[in-house]
Amino acid sequence: MDQYRVFGNPIAQSKSPFIHQQFAAQSKQLMNYQSEWVALDQFEVTVQKLIANKGKGANVTAPFKEQAFALCDKLSERAKLAGAVNTLIFSQGSIYGDTTDGIGLVSDLLRHQVQLQNSKILLLGAGGAAKGVVQSLLEQSPKSLTIANRTLIKAQAIAQQYPNDAIEAITFADTEQITFDIIINATSAGLSGDSLPISDQTIKCSNTCYDMVYGKDQTAFLKQAQQLGVEHIIDGLGMLVGQAAASFQLWTGINPDVEPVLESLRAQLT
Ligand code: ATR
Repeated sequence: MDQYRVFGNPIAQSKSPFIHQQFAAQSKQLMNYQSEWVALDQFEVTVQKLIANKGKGANVTAPFKEQAFALCDKLSERAKLAGAVNTLIFSQGSIYGDTTDGIGLVSDLLRHQVQLQNSKILLLGAGGAAKGVVQSLLEQSPKSLTIANRTLIKAQAIAQQYPNDAIEAITFADTEQITFDIIINATSAGLSGDSLPISDQTIKCSNTCYDMVYGKDQTAFLKQAQQLGVEHIIDGLGMLVGQAAASFQLWTGINPDVEPVLESLRAQLT
């Protein structure tokens, strides 16, 4: 049977095996998809072992997305811009790398009927999570894509990668002077219990607040947005399933149905 893996460290929490097993069952694909913990210095060896053992593809999660990027023989344009890879395809002795996080985010926003075209989007954060979605957001032709980050220079470095007048970099303080339709949190602030320095007024003016983080309980950012009456409040579970769907499509050519998988994952959240 064709072998697929998700590589990470840690990996026990990964929902990818469940998601891909559901996608495979839906479309009657014979696929063995497992998670695998990889020692920090064993990534390349582990990928080569998989290729030698009927490996057809793999997902890659923290902290290996940059190592995966460096290992590929060929890369998608998206992956080149992100500097990271979350999907590997093994074919005829070569390794192709792509990144599907941006597709996952965009497809989830569109699934919620959020209008991206001609919208003013604020992306909070300039780490790996933010970098991975910029190209996909720009492909939707927003009116503007503004990246705000605590360390301004990191947001500026991302903006400079794109020859697109719609993209700009600002500080959190600058967000006070501008209104946005959509605010996307790609920082890790909430994970460490910190709150985001974004004012109630800025949040209130938006129609959508999206947090790439998800959990049983709503994140602090989404709670704040809900209390302020923002129309669309969305967490990152749909992005997770969406990026998996895009990987599955790259491997099999089949576009799986995300809805039932998302529903069962939501019910399993602890
Ligand atoms: P990831 O891969 O999840 O994006 P990362 O590359 O470490 O992780 O990036 C974390 C992001 O969250 C960065 O944009 C970081 O801001 P800095 O670039 O200024 O470090 C942001 N972040 C983390 N804690 C934050 C906080 N308490 N307030 C605001 N931004 C924070």
